[in-house]
Amino acid sequence: MTTCWVIYNGSLVSDKFADQARLVAEAAERAGVAVQIMKNHDILMDLEKDADMPDFAVLLDKDILLGYFLKSRGVPVYNDPAIIDLCDNKATQYIRLASVGLPMPRTIVAPKVYPNFSILESGYFERVMEELTFPMIIKEGHGSFGMKVYLIENEKVFYDKVEALRGIDFVFQEFIASSRGRDIRVNIVGGEIVAAMYRHSETDFRANITNGGVASPIELTEAQKQMALEAAEAVGAVFAGVDLLFDADEQPLVCEVNAAAHIRNILNVTGVNVADAMIAYIMEDLR
Ligand SMILES: Nc1ncnc2c1ncn2[C@@H]1O[C@H](COP(=O)(O)OP(=O)(O)O)[C@@H](O)[C@H]1O
Ligand SMILES: [Mg+2]
Repeated sequence: MTTCWVIYNGSLVSDKFADQARLVAEAAERAGVAVQIMKNHDILMDLEKDADMPDFAVLLDKDILLGYFLKSRGVPVYNDPAIIDLCDNKATQYIRLASVGLPMPRTIVAPKVYPNFSILESGYFERVMEELTFPMIIKEGHGSFGMKVYLIENEKVFYDKVEALRGIDFVFQEFIASSRGRDIRVNIVGGEIVAAMYRHSETDFRANITNGGVASPIELTEAQKQMALEAAEAVGAVFAGVDLLFDADEQPLVCEVNAAAHIRNILNVTGVNVADAMIAYIMEDLR
């Protein structure tokens, strides 16, 4: 019997992470796989000792080191940790997306500044403000659920934020006003669109459901489908949650690709259980 670990992060207290793992584990069970749900810290990454390993692992977290560890032990890991690594930092992700020419908000990757130092006097930030006007977006490299995405309305807030972010990877980004409080989430598995939803917030510029957004099913246009698939492919994610924005002509722009996308909301909204597609993909891939 095929065995598998479904891994989530044990340090996060919200039930949504365990819930995500249960959804995937149930799908694996339905496919006849002997599945074990694991917290990342259940696994001792002892580099000396051998331990029993599963036939494959579904890594629902950004514990990239665990992914690399499992791979070093011969375990196929989905998504591949190198892909989670690339996507986990929005800056590296945008560099990749831009390199294949995907339409996205104008983006400037911030330079590395060591936390105890400052480049306030260098003139660098004034150059950024010449390129991007207010309001603009500042987005931390690592962040989910909209929590590390900021709408910067003026210079005072801008300077406060860039000083606060010393030592942290982030990007400056054009604010797509036509997309204020609305976006599209597209779930992709193995190069195919499995489900999509429209997210809309009355209270915030961010459409994330965790942030107060409300979701509904949506029929994607051909342009939206194409762009979501191209974005997932550009970063190499077999499992992807692609966020799309609306430009001034209602045409899509890539907002981000999530390599560890949650699937509960999309199940509630569309009735599509993305986990079944994920497991089906893996079983086929392993054959
Ligand atoms: N450049 C932008 N212009 C307008 N809205 C944006 C922009 N970038 C992000 N948003 C909004 O903020 C939300 C969160 O941004 P996102 O990059 O998806 O980060 P997270 O990983 O936190 O979901 C998006 O779903 C979208 O509603
Ligand atoms: Mg997002």
